[in-house]
Amino acid sequence: MRHSVLILLAGLVIASCAPKSEMDRFIDDLMAGMTLEQKIGQLNLHSSPGFISAERVTEEDENAKLLRQGLLGGIYGSGNPALLRQCQEIALESGAGIPLIFGMDVIHGHETVFPVPLALSTSWNMDLIERSARIAATEAAASGINWVFSPMVDICRDARWGRIVEGGGEDPYLGGEIARAMVYGYQGRDASVGTDEVLACVKHYALYGGAEAGRDYNSVFLSRQEALNGYMNPYKAACEAGAASYMSSFNEFEGIPASMNTWLMQDILRDSWGFDGFIVSDATAIAEEVNHGIGDLQEISARSLKAGLDMDMNSDGYIGTLKESLEEGRIKEADIDRACRRILKAKYRLGLFEDPYRYLDDARYNSTVYTQENRAAAREMARECQVLLKNDGILPLSKGAKVAVVGPLAKDSDAMKGTWAMSRKPCVTLWQGISEVSNASYAEGSWLYKDAELEDAVRHSIFRAFAPGMQIPPVHTTPQSALIAEAVAKARQADVVVACVGEVPNMNGEGASRTDISLPDAQRELLQALKATGKPVVMVLVTGRPLTLVEEDAQMDAILNVWSPGSEGGYAVADVLFGDANPSAKLTTSFPRSAGQLPLYYNHKSTGRPHPDDAPYKKFVSCYIDEVNAPLYPFGYGLSYTTYEYGPVTLSAGEMPLNGTVKASVTVTNTGSRAGDEIVQLYIHDVYATSTRPVKELKGFKKIHIETGQSVQVDFTLTKEELSYYNHDLEWVCEPGDFEIMIGPNSRDTQGAMLAVKAADAS
Ligand code: NOJ
Repeated sequence: MRHSVLILLAGLVIASCAPKSEMDRFIDDLMAGMTLEQKIGQLNLHSSPGFISAERVTEEDENAKLLRQGLLGGIYGSGNPALLRQCQEIALESGAGIPLIFGMDVIHGHETVFPVPLALSTSWNMDLIERSARIAATEAAASGINWVFSPMVDICRDARWGRIVEGGGEDPYLGGEIARAMVYGYQGRDASVGTDEVLACVKHYALYGGAEAGRDYNSVFLSRQEALNGYMNPYKAACEAGAASYMSSFNEFEGIPASMNTWLMQDILRDSWGFDGFIVSDATAIAEEVNHGIGDLQEISARSLKAGLDMDMNSDGYIGTLKESLEEGRIKEADIDRACRRILKAKYRLGLFEDPYRYLDDARYNSTVYTQENRAAAREMARECQVLLKNDGILPLSKGAKVAVVGPLAKDSDAMKGTWAMSRKPCVTLWQGISEVSNASYAEGSWLYKDAELEDAVRHSIFRAFAPGMQIPPVHTTPQSALIAEAVAKARQADVVVACVGEVPNMNGEGASRTDISLPDAQRELLQALKATGKPVVMVLVTGRPLTLVEEDAQMDAILNVWSPGSEGGYAVADVLFGDANPSAKLTTSFPRSAGQLPLYYNHKSTGRPHPDDAPYKKFVSCYIDEVNAPLYPFGYGLSYTTYEYGPVTLSAGEMPLNGTVKASVTVTNTGSRAGDEIVQLYIHDVYATSTRPVKELKGFKKIHIETGQSVQVDFTLTKEELSYYNHDLEWVCEPGDFEIMIGPNSRDTQGAMLAVKAADAS
């Protein structure tokens, strides 16, 4: 401890003697001329006038008034360069004349929409994921945006939580790789930010995906140890990749809301990981802390600032109360200065002081956004993000077959787009994609839900929230029975049925938790009627979360999970259905058999009374009376049109000195009749440790191309890093002893070899 205090003091002495950077000197000068109000103004972020739809700022706009008083540091939610230019002009003419930063929820593409993040994660292809963020950055930057509220890296083990769709799944190692790739994609790989790069905002810091019972915004109850081991790696990896900003989350952790949580923001993010960017709250999160029962807006704002939250999104807590708190001695001017400096540094890094209009170039917008090239990339990506869950041999389909395309999602462009997609361009529907390459007929087939009121509430949830009085026509005019009858008639005339079912975007994403994660009743009724025709049925599943599909797995001839595949979704799905592309994606979330199993995740701990995953009920062991412990489809699972055989796992040595390395290898052979891409996964299990460890943990993966009949040796290098974890004292340690090293095509079907790690002084 004494040692670290000395190091800290030495560091402070060195830092105070070090010459100031040009940026620091610039910001010193700038801040010296700023009033207290202007500094507080920099800490304020608002959504754009009229959020996304406004064309011009009017005199009456609340934001225009704040801008004129120098009380806004940034605006988010608009990708309209003309409007943003107008806001920038007002900002530069008023207050301290400091340019605004422009943020936006650019989550999976911008005008060109890529598959939803959970889908992208199933590609296990980091180059593809980085490229998706790179293209999104170029499109966003050409739209005037210089700061994106992405990547969302919350680990989630509970598919009831609708926002599972926005992240990379349940695994912290894979999540870390994805976080890194996304930050590189948005910001580039070095510290400079070019005009086609934007600042990333890592969210939601932290642990938002641990919401109890999968209910959005709910409290999180995790130990610090489990938080660090199971959830925090993606946030940390993003920091290592140079992420410029973080967004605090809505949830509380250890009884303190995240937006005022010193342990999360100061101790971990800044002190332990060395983050030196700025932290913004989630929208209205500061004001919402009142509901947590922590204090009034003034108290909360003061505590949030002191805990390290630099920018207030939409609560007006900072502009409304910080001055008073300063006068009352609740905060110091240095607290305000620190936050202001961090925001000014971000603007400096973006080059906004050199040219505040750097991102506002109409000509660039027209030549950069939604181009043929970007759409081709969207199609390519969507091909690689479809998980084949079941195939009795019906897929791929022949282009000569008569196909009945049936289901409420077949012609739904928004279902292809998915949640958090602000693009104004329509997406290619499943019907378009399939009918362009085959002899196809169409029927809507069913409602979404049998309960029309529920369907209305779901489909129009956003309007109902923001425009409660708005008149909306009824969701259906044709009865469900008539839709089914028509679909059955079409199915009878066809060789094969492609049933397009699942979730519309409002059924997942923010504020869209579900307790029953099966396919809605009306759609299940349709599937049963189709099955009863005796025709083969291929289920194309559009979803943003794992669903419970036991019934469908038993009945359908094939299930292709296409998620929400983006702008070119319909074409990409047709590519896979008709065999122009061989599916290779693998799940990054376990698919439960029943919602009662949730939370469900492969990297769970063993209990003192373990029970085999697929064994039936037994008294006095850890299991259920009415369901096995196993998921229906495990983490890492996904089929291909070819087959692979895994040889035994070999280690270059059975023992590894603590600071040494060992190579783990496996030979994979393509035993089928098509070339394919296989995702080879390496897991470890720490057999004895001073704290309990998960039964399996992913620690490596490789996606390899294998020609038919070819064998490829896949090697992984293991060091103590892969074998370390946060112990009970929250130290990152590798404890010598036995480790099981497992390799396989998914988290269930692995083969293992034992490795003994020897302490440094052991002979
Ligand atoms: C709330 C969401 O939680 C967050 O993800 C988003 O970035 C902000 N709103 C801004 O739209």
